[in-house]
Amino acid sequence: MLDQLPDRVSVYEVSLRDGLQNEPVVVPTTKKLRLLDALVAAGLGRIEMTSFVSPKWVPQLADADELARLVEPRPGVTFSALCPNPKGLERAIHAKVAEIGLFVSASETHNKKNVNKTIEATLATFAEIAPAARAAGIRVRGYVSTLWGCPYEGKIDPRRGLAIAHRLIELGCYQVSLGDTIGVGTPLQTRDIVRVFLRELRPEQVALHLHDTRGTALANMLVGLDCGIRDFDASVGGLGGCPYAPGAAGNLATEDLVFTLHGMGVATGIDLERLWEAGKVAESVVGRPLPGKVHQAGVRSLRS
Ligand code: HMG
Ligand code: MG
Repeated sequence: MLDQLPDRVSVYEVSLRDGLQNEPVVVPTTKKLRLLDALVAAGLGRIEMTSFVSPKWVPQLADADELARLVEPRPGVTFSALCPNPKGLERAIHAKVAEIGLFVSASETHNKKNVNKTIEATLATFAEIAPAARAAGIRVRGYVSTLWGCPYEGKIDPRRGLAIAHRLIELGCYQVSLGDTIGVGTPLQTRDIVRVFLRELRPEQVALHLHDTRGTALANMLVGLDCGIRDFDASVGGLGGCPYAPGAAGNLATEDLVFTLHGMGVATGIDLERLWEAGKVAESVVGRPLPGKVHQAGVRSLRS
């Protein structure tokens, strides 16, 4: 295992969106901007900063328009936002975001609870908005959630997810991020899921979006890396949580991902010390200790 490592891996930072949407506190926009600046300073080049979803459904991200308006463009950095429907796209176009994320679940029940629509109706909405987004010069990425398991339906057949990923790619998504939404994945399962996708999709079309709810995100990442995945979503400090497991950890922590990759000689373009500092900012903006391992252990003592 891990005999053929790539020179470089791309990190997609989701703390401001996936992290904050799961926090009990609503973080003021100015504090979000502080975190965003710290992430940019650390060298993150792909940052999902918010969601243009209903503020009634996700009050933590109700300031999406304001946040996007206040973010200054930075060379080499792509800021993105989730977008569920035409109203979301209208907001994304107005905010001039470079990229939107279309999200759909592989589980019918989870999808209904998340966006109040069936999977088919969600894909039909995407068929409306994806071409319009691309015509407006916006890049489109996709998510397929609950692939490792659903809180309502249990195990999910990865081929259901693959069929959805094909539809997203046909609609112009340059990449589809596969979600272990509730963090139930284990390594051999990850290998099986990734193999199903890579039989039909190119590696650059697939990213992994792993949650660390049960402490398996890093192990699953390594299996994905070994299978050929080169794109990983992560959240600084492990910011966030899981609505189905109160008190549990959030996404794979960006520092843990970067520490592990750098330790194996895989470049990310990220400065780990500055990333650690960004984790400290994340901790101060939410006002609670964050679960990331490197975040807690620190990186300075590693200097020889
Ligand atoms: P709905 O209630 O069915 O929407 O919600 P609707 O079309 O019937 O509209 C109802 C009201 O919402 C209307 O306002 C609309 O204008 C408004 P009213 O007339 O009552 O005043 N509305 C909007 N407002 C702002 N922005 C919009 C928008 N759309 C409608 N875009 C909806 C449907 C999709 C809006 C709702 O279900 C929603 O916002 N869901 C968001 C769910 C969400 O963000 N979940 C978390 C992200 S997914 C995730 O975390 C998984 C992921 O991380 C990957 C993984 O882990 O696997 C990506
Ligand atoms: Mg997620």
